[in-house]
Amino acid sequence: HSSSVHDYLREHIRTVPNWPAPGVQFRDITPLLQDPKVFRVLIDAFVHRYMDKAMRPDVVAGLDARGFIIGSVIAYELGVGFVPIRKKGKLPFTTVEETYELEYGSATVELHTDAVRPGDKVLLIDDLIATGGTMMAGKKLLEKLGATVMEGAAIVDLPELGGSTLLQTVGQLPLFTLVDFA
Ligand code: PRP
Ligand code: ADE
Repeated sequence: HSSSVHDYLREHIRTVPNWPAPGVQFRDITPLLQDPKVFRVLIDAFVHRYMDKAMRPDVVAGLDARGFIIGSVIAYELGVGFVPIRKKGKLPFTTVEETYELEYGSATVELHTDAVRPGDKVLLIDDLIATGGTMMAGKKLLEKLGATVMEGAAIVDLPELGGSTLLQTVGQLPLFTLVDFA
């Protein structure tokens, strides 16, 4: 993608200092979604990459909750199904689950056992990569069901938190992100 698209998207991300905790610079993607022209540029950046025959997934998986907003639209445009990876206690059918460490405490995510089939090529979507814990947990869930996560994609990467490096090295997960905030 050209740097003009990168800059255009970056200009429409709002930074909220000290939210939800002192010292955190929260990168708020809601302005990207609010403006229809920007929303289209955003979605098209992903669709353009994954429409390509070699890159086209069988399924898009989205991470709760902001990954749902863009993940479902990307799946719809690609003409493939969408499956939600949810925080524990929300999915009604049988699930696999994965617990991971947060800055304070831990979190558990779940996926329906029939969400993907062995051998499915899955594109895993979230809005942002910080420590990488959420995306790593999502990858493990999909792999428990025998699927292959072909790539992880997000709007924003916070490289200083080390998540994107960890996912690509330890996690062996290729990544595609549109905007970096150092
Ligand atoms: C945020 C963000 C990612 C995750 C990234 O979600 O949307 O899912 O944190 O952080 P990590 O790389 O350190 O795992 P949050 O848990 O705030 O939930 P939300 O989407 O429901 O707001
Ligand atoms: N999730 C984790 N860290 C975040 C940040 N700085 N901004 C937005 N979402 C986040």
